[in-house]
Amino acid sequence: MSIDNPISRLVFKLRESEISEFPGIIKAANLKDSDLQAFATWEGQDYTRNCIERNDDFELLLLCWNPGDKTPIHGHGGQKCWVYQISGEIEERRFVNTEDGPVLQYKHKLEEGQLTYMDDKMGFHVLSNPGEHRSMSMHIYVKPIDRCRVYNPEESCFEEKKLSYDQIISEIA
Ligand SMILES: [Fe+2]
Repeated sequence: MSIDNPISRLVFKLRESEISEFPGIIKAANLKDSDLQAFATWEGQDYTRNCIERNDDFELLLLCWNPGDKTPIHGHGGQKCWVYQISGEIEERRFVNTEDGPVLQYKHKLEEGQLTYMDDKMGFHVLSNPGEHRSMSMHIYVKPIDRCRVYNPEESCFEEKKLSYDQIISEIA
């Protein structure tokens, strides 16, 4: 892939920038569905996690959602998390943990071109694709997240989960 590609340009810009600049850079990149289609994967029973960039400072992932795909209630391993909606829509539901388990506090839809932020101080969340069409979102984790807490409704407790990728995109040098 040449450097003159919107994704490569974003990765290079993030590499040389301060974390405080990340939200502005992500929005200014104004990425479209067509910029990311080449990296999308839709196999499997669930949404896919496609790694565009991973270094010591941050991780940039493309998540591909079929209609109805949904995460469990999860935390973010103490890291910062931005989600930018590329195409379609995602519903975010935020929870706080109580003695009786997670309690829903807030729900909203993330639509094309919108950016949202989450970290463990804000609680836990669930992301899902409530629409009838496929959806793509870009996730930036600072720093990369290898493990996070996931709620197990059968045991009524949080468990540590190791995260993995469905695809590692290696074209970006
Ligand atoms: Fe999340």
